[in-house]
Amino acid sequence: MSALEVLDDFNTSHFLEKQSSRREFLGFCGRMAVMLGLAESAIPQVAAALQEAARRRPSVIWLEFQDCAGNSESFLRAESPSVGQAVLQSISLDYHETIMAAAGHRAEEARDTALQENSGQVIVVVEGSIPTADDGVYCTVAGKTALQILEEVEPHAAAFVAVGTCASFGGLPLARPNPTGAVALERVVGKPVINLPGCPANPDVIMGLLVHNLIFGRLPDLDRQKRPLFAYGKRIHDTCERRPHYDAGQYALEFDDYGARQGYCLYKLGCKGPETYNVCASMRWNGRASWPVKAGHPCIGCSEEAFWDRFTPFYERLPNVSGFGVEQSADDIGKMLVGVTAAGLAAHAAYAWAVRRADKKAAEMTAREKAARKKAIREAEGESE
Ligand code: SF4
Ligand code: F3S
Repeated sequence: MSALEVLDDFNTSHFLEKQSSRREFLGFCGRMAVMLGLAESAIPQVAAALQEAARRRPSVIWLEFQDCAGNSESFLRAESPSVGQAVLQSISLDYHETIMAAAGHRAEEARDTALQENSGQVIVVVEGSIPTADDGVYCTVAGKTALQILEEVEPHAAAFVAVGTCASFGGLPLARPNPTGAVALERVVGKPVINLPGCPANPDVIMGLLVHNLIFGRLPDLDRQKRPLFAYGKRIHDTCERRPHYDAGQYALEFDDYGARQGYCLYKLGCKGPETYNVCASMRWNGRASWPVKAGHPCIGCSEEAFWDRFTPFYERLPNVSGFGVEQSADDIGKMLVGVTAAGLAAHAAYAWAVRRADKKAAEMTAREKAARKKAIREAEGESE
């Protein structure tokens, strides 16, 4: 069956009928195929998988504990056809405090009913870390602690999905001194957990997990931190559009300097892309419009374990990152590519110094000084070539 034939079927099955055009929906299926590492010819399979999901509508319970609801926001604010819409049409989201219409006792009843009716089959999504200090009193919902809620829910769960870094690894609440005794989801449940870290997690990754399960009928391959390899198998550094500048030894040294304006590598401004695994560079955010590094900010490593403790101060650079393949540290790269001769090294140093000096003076510039600065940069560029 071709993708269009599958779509015809969709249009009679009410799936995404009113919310998206064929073109948008095919684009969405194409994105899923790319993320899962499938060929373009697999787009009909992706479309059929979503159709199948829409028929079966597996029950999903979404629990929020120590979090900011950022993952829910990320997921619901996705572009058209909204990932949120697509997922909501593909699953039966029986409980989600932020978006469900019911409140109070009715909401809790809805959760209990869904658990009883789908016992053993429920996919439990957890957003936020779980406090364990003082019997877990630092996070309660409807008078129960997060620990008590998980204890009640687990017997009915088929598997857990930890969405976002707080649920996956403890996130900000777990950062030193961790007063609430926050832990990751997998520390308090025994059933299988899939981690989708990120602050927040990329909405396409959440959808990709569902599509993968439907197409292949099994959980995706995971890394040692229980993250799906289809989304967390590559470093940000390996898919980053600024990578050619890293390899060429061209770095922004300040946020508004010449290098920053030229889109140079942000490594020396603290980028943690070399030690971070995520899809940001390839899938991007907000309708694929942008992502942190494209917008000019270093990656802070938000999808890595203990990133608040490991990667702060965020604007200090990682030590001894290998690069240019795997043989060289970043310090060596700049030197090597400017030239192996002493003259070449001097030219690179002079370039960096001249650009810094020009930028420092920019703060109190007159028109005449602006022209002089431009000239200094042009000269510096000429010397570095
Ligand atoms: Fe991109 Fe950061 Fe790697 Fe530079 S260090 S290439 S900005 S990921
Ligand atoms: Fe996080 Fe780095 Fe992506 S900060 S959102 S993993 S670019």
